[in-house]
Amino acid sequence: MCLDAQVNILLVMETHTPTRQEAFELFCRYNSNESLIKHALAVEAVMRHMARKHGEEEEKWGIIGLVHDLDWERFPDEHCRKSPELLREAGWPDEYVHAVASHGWGICSDVEPVSVLEKTLYAVDELTGLVVTSALVRPSKSIMDMEAGSVKKKWKDKRFAAGVNREVIEKGAALLGVDLTQLITDTILGMRTVAREIGLEGNP
Ligand SMILES: [Fe+2]
Ligand SMILES: [Fe+2]
Repeated sequence: MCLDAQVNILLVMETHTPTRQEAFELFCRYNSNESLIKHALAVEAVMRHMARKHGEEEEKWGIIGLVHDLDWERFPDEHCRKSPELLREAGWPDEYVHAVASHGWGICSDVEPVSVLEKTLYAVDELTGLVVTSALVRPSKSIMDMEAGSVKKKWKDKRFAAGVNREVIEKGAALLGVDLTQLITDTILGMRTVAREIGLEGNP
């Protein structure tokens, strides 16, 4: 192997702290579906809100939220298993890789959420979907004036947002030791910061 090739391999293997721009470009390289991109932005915004609330590293939390479904569009049968491979190839640190893999714990991954960051991602991922559907059935179609009660009202109606696994959200809240209403409120507050980008600003 020539020296150039060796240097290239070393460069690929070496980990670095990813930037938000790098994360978004990587996500868009593997995903083009508009609702999936909106979902990524919603989860990023909630993770940023949660990080600010807990005095944690907002950039790291946001970036992990942004890329958590990296493998979803191209590798649906390998969801949560392909992303770690892609992130490692891109030189992302273990902490980021582990967190992304853990969001599908018990569903498509056996990687358990351990850190507060991971438990938060696990808890809010599905919840953002329920918040979106709850907002869209309101007359205002807006998240800006929506409270946790609108989401809780739909909690037991299994036909409403049928794809959203309420048990995972409840398990996530329990892992975090937070009350469900508080978790929903924080998720709404986070999503409000990107209401325009995710189409939940309401009627003009
Ligand atoms: Fe996922
Ligand atoms: Fe997701």
